[in-house]
Amino acid sequence: MVIHKPSRLLPLLLALVFITGCTQARFNPVSTAPLPQPGLTPERIILNLTQTPATSQAVTWRTTAIVTTPKAQIAIATGSPVFRTKATTLTALSESIKSDDAPLVFYHSVTFKDLAPNTLYAYRVGDDTHWSEWNQFKTASATPQPFSFIYFGDPQDEVGSMCARTFRTAFKTAPDAAFWHFVGDMVNNGDKDAEWQELFDAFGWIPRTTPMILLPGNHAYPDKRFVKGDAFKIFPQWRPQFTLPQNGPKGLEETAYAIDYQGVRFIMLNGNEKLQEQAEWLNTVLANNPQPWTIAAIHQPIYATGRKRNDQQRQALFVPVFDKYSVDLVLQGHEHSYARTQRLFNGQPATAPHKGTVYITSVCGPKAYPANHRYDHLTETTGTGRQLFQVIRVNSKSLTYEAFDSAGNPYDRVELIK
Ligand SMILES: [Fe+2]
Ligand SMILES: [Fe+2]
Repeated sequence: MVIHKPSRLLPLLLALVFITGCTQARFNPVSTAPLPQPGLTPERIILNLTQTPATSQAVTWRTTAIVTTPKAQIAIATGSPVFRTKATTLTALSESIKSDDAPLVFYHSVTFKDLAPNTLYAYRVGDDTHWSEWNQFKTASATPQPFSFIYFGDPQDEVGSMCARTFRTAFKTAPDAAFWHFVGDMVNNGDKDAEWQELFDAFGWIPRTTPMILLPGNHAYPDKRFVKGDAFKIFPQWRPQFTLPQNGPKGLEETAYAIDYQGVRFIMLNGNEKLQEQAEWLNTVLANNPQPWTIAAIHQPIYATGRKRNDQQRQALFVPVFDKYSVDLVLQGHEHSYARTQRLFNGQPATAPHKGTVYITSVCGPKAYPANHRYDHLTETTGTGRQLFQVIRVNSKSLTYEAFDSAGNPYDRVELIK
């Protein structure tokens, strides 16, 4: 066997390669580009569904330094990089916000309009010198078509440390989900910028390509026990961070709204205020509903299956409307435990086949409260102590609901037939 000894020339050759590399880098035209300015790189980029998801799409982002010409670009995505040459540029709306625990920041948003249904688009956000990467999203079909989405209960606590795994397992379980649907308590203190940062860190790039719909929980508001009257209002951090529909009751813009998506009418309710107004609005929104399926969401559950609290005001206001218009699912959070009822009508298991409303309470963060069994006569599954997410697949004939834990284990399942 011949063993090659290291050549004495090797160090000299390596030195030559190093010097040559340095010389090339010094004259590389790329290195002459202006260095990124601190604070101008787009961050916390998030897609939100609009009320017309077949033809429009909203995106929000922020910078920590002021941007004079915030904008977004969009083009139909192709496999070739040439799509960029056909991009349209839109000017963004901007607003600034100051949190107690962070410097002044600048939120920017664009709503892409006049899009083609069921079409993959590429977009980027930024300004003339600082652009995000090109991301992609797909518009909804204009007519009912099968699709899936993922529903999450409260992240809320230890979001950076403990919710990232839930989000990543969810994405790997249903990468084709059309959007993610949260039901509030995204963070524990909705006025703390550091907690929102944890959420976006845990999300990673997912909200840049999977749109989100979400509504506020009680942690997006000050504690009701200590704040009265007009001082009780949603924290100013909520609305700048998202671009959500404003088609709900007056005063609840971007917190209570309706979206039709490929055969499902989604209703977002704000369980924190103006409940009577929302019950009346719900009546009007459901009285003229051409969609075969209806899914409502509210943070505070209608049938509370956690702790001692059991506020029945929401039950009295909303159950008659859910019953009247045969709402299929009500998605909820707040209890930090899990419960899924049978199909219910007027507070009891429905007797007619394939009728009634299923009420679900779930949680995706690590905080867990004991499950309360006061509604065991209505529930099919009750539990606590797991970080969960739920994949819901809908077609014209059936709705398949599957809950998984953060390790990917199946936890609960039900199928509804139309
Ligand atoms: Fe919560
Ligand atoms: Fe809550």
